[in-house]
This record gives sequence, structure tokens and C-alpha cells, in this order.
Amino acid sequence: MEAVTQNSPSPSLPRLGMPAPPFQAETTHGTIRLADFAGSWLILFSHPADFTPVCTTELVAFAQIAPELRQRNVELLGLSIDSTYSHIAWVRAIEQHFKTTIPFPVIADLNKEIATLYGMIMPGESKTETSRCVFVIDPNGILRAMIYYPLTTGRNTDEILRLIDALQTADKHGVATPANWRSGDKVILPPPKTIEGAAERLKAGYECTDWFFCKKELPKDG
Ligand code: BEZ
Repeated sequence: MEAVTQNSPSPSLPRLGMPAPPFQAETTHGTIRLADFAGSWLILFSHPADFTPVCTTELVAFAQIAPELRQRNVELLGLSIDSTYSHIAWVRAIEQHFKTTIPFPVIADLNKEIATLYGMIMPGESKTETSRCVFVIDPNGILRAMIYYPLTTGRNTDEILRLIDALQTADKHGVATPANWRSGDKVILPPPKTIEGAAERLKAGYECTDWFFCKKELPKDG
């Protein structure tokens, strides 16, 4: 592993709850801007490099969940520090060898512009490759979740689907979701902020273990 020489991260790195940094990019589907995704959720993800084995498994795995994401109004957008020609060749090789069509665009970020803007390069791991980052951006362009995985560990697309379900459920119902929650499980009521709120909560008929820990079922259709 390379030695880290930089002490502090850039102060302008993306932050949860803030607008995602805008960009315009060359992709395998032509020029794309972040603003093109307004009204949809977006998963912007980076991989270290084209024609590498773990990344190949990830691209296939993302392609496999693309229909389920579409049902949830979520688009996918990949990125690495490679050229469009390399992306095209890799996508074609994946189609040939893994019988999988990659239905989403992949950004060619050869000058590292977007990788730097989003803090996708972890110099302690590699100065020339993006780590395995996932940025979940909501239909209003707000950054809602970030996941960072190292070069050697492929991501879990079940967890990414679970994260999307949790975010959309939280937004729709004003609730939170517990550890290892899956769609259909009981949800958590955010903790009360006042003594009065705590007392009301206990009277309201939720499943409360204590004033700060209440769960409820969501309607089955929702
Ligand atoms: C891979 O995708 O296989 C990979 C990429 C960078 C470092 C290690 C593995």
C-alpha cells in the first residue's frame, strides 16, 4: 500500500444532505450531466479500472439489479479513470463472455475531474484508480448516502437495493429503519425530542420497549 502524504481531505468533498456536486461527463451513452437525472434517484458508482476481475463481477452485478432499480425510479451511472474506448471494449467483452448487457452509461474520467470532485480517489490505496464508491443522489439532487469499499472487495448489490428501499421508506413514511431491516419489516419511530413527545409516544399504541425505542408496522401496500 502507498504511503499517504496528504494530511487533510479536501474541504469541498461531498457531504450527506447537501446538493451533489454538479458535473458534465463523456460516457458510453454520450454526454451526460448530473441535471439530466433530476426527478430520478441516481446511483453514481466508481470502479478502479476496466478489464479487472472484481470490477467485472461488479458491473455484471449492477446490470443484474438494474431492472429492480428501475422499478424504484433509480438510474445507474458508472465511472472509472479510463477512456470511452476502453469502456466500450470492456462492456463488449462483458457482453461476450458473461452474456450480460450493461444497460447504464459509464463515465470516462481520464482527467480525474469527477473522481476528484467526489473524492473517489483514496491516495493511500491508489493514486491512479478510483476506489469502489457509491453515491446515492435523490430526485432533488441531494446526496443521501455514500459507501466506500477498498480496491480488493467487491460490493454487495443486495445491500444497495436495501439502502434504496430504506431511504425511500424513510422519505415516504417519516420513519427510520433498524439494523438489517428489509422491506416489509417493522420500522423505527425517530426518537422524540421533548419529554411531552416521549410521553405521547408511549400512549399512542406503538410497540414501545421504552420511551426512546418504538417500532410500528407499515401498511402492507406501502
Ligand atoms: C479488480 O477489479 O479485480 C481489482 C482492481 C484493483 C485492485 C484489485 C482488484
